[in-house]
Amino acid sequence: MTIQTQPLSINEIQKAADIIKAGGLVAFPTETVYGLGANALDEAAVKKIYAAKGRPSDNPLILHVLDIDGLSSCVEAVPQTALKLIAKFCPGPITMILNKSKNVPYATTGNRDTVAVRIPAHEVARRLIELAGVPIAAPSANTSGRLSPTTAAHVLADMHGRIDAVLCGDACSVGIESTIIDLSSGLPILLRPGTITKTQIESVLGVKINQSAATLADSVAPGMKYKHYAPDAPMYIIRGEPHKVAEYINRRISESGLPAERVGILTSEESAGFYTCGHVINVGSIKNLEDVARGIYAALHRFNEAGVEIIFSESFRHTEVGLSIMNRLEKAAGNNIIDI
Ligand code: TXA
Ligand code: MG
Repeated sequence: MTIQTQPLSINEIQKAADIIKAGGLVAFPTETVYGLGANALDEAAVKKIYAAKGRPSDNPLILHVLDIDGLSSCVEAVPQTALKLIAKFCPGPITMILNKSKNVPYATTGNRDTVAVRIPAHEVARRLIELAGVPIAAPSANTSGRLSPTTAAHVLADMHGRIDAVLCGDACSVGIESTIIDLSSGLPILLRPGTITKTQIESVLGVKINQSAATLADSVAPGMKYKHYAPDAPMYIIRGEPHKVAEYINRRISESGLPAERVGILTSEESAGFYTCGHVINVGSIKNLEDVARGIYAALHRFNEAGVEIIFSESFRHTEVGLSIMNRLEKAAGNNIIDI
């Protein structure tokens, strides 16, 4: 079933909530990416998420709750660090790892004693949680290893026939997955960078988070060890001075013998004019990396839809939101990086 009227009426969200209460799966919009939701407290329902995504059972899920009360019911205790981050950033695109309460089944946490919880900002997500009356476990609504969906059409193209309903809302405004911060032991650890940055978190908590996000993410957030965010075509990130990067890509296209429209180019607004051919997607200005973050999965989905045979992407700066953008692009490229 596709629940597709826009804007979504309360009746439609109620139908979706009823499916969740009955142990079914509903894809729904959040501000980051679309989630694939089930009742987080219902072991059988949660197992359906793993089956529908083809997700390894040791890769834990994020619980979506409305507020601090909802969060408290999923965790053993809410530490001061969590309270500070909630006050500053929630509802919003940040996930906290805390010690789980007995309510939360091990099927939801991939057998861990910790649980990931987030308070989303998206109105439809919030209504759905409210009407379902339970925490909603929701990974990104894509087959494991594929790109995260930022529109309902992406979800339908990937998951149709394997889930009970899709709540079709607008395109996601953040466009990449939430920042994940582990608060379960003394020292906060950034497990996945997002649009809420390490620097912002450090200034709220008043402590330095020294660890490199990339290194820790590979060892600590189980999901990060799997191949992630991959478009259909092989992808290369080209690093260097913008003019030279474009020159290199233009040359590769002419040497490849491929029809130009079969080559995807992911570029910033500043460099878009340098390309003489190819399927060029301009994801926005390097002066506004939030726009770029919003655009990258959407661009990679468009390359899939266009059936490009190879993708070249420019590199963005590795600081703040740029770090999160490059984390996703480097995974999409399977770390194929060419320095020129
Ligand atoms: O923005 C988001 O967070 C989206 C939307 C739908 O809310 N969800 C999302 O979920 O990105 P997913 O499953 O695609 O990514 C969750 C990540 C995985 O890398 C997983 O390993 C990690 O969170 N994770 C979940 N529980 C954890 C835990 N207890 N300890 C460490 N990492 C955990
Ligand atoms: Mg995911």
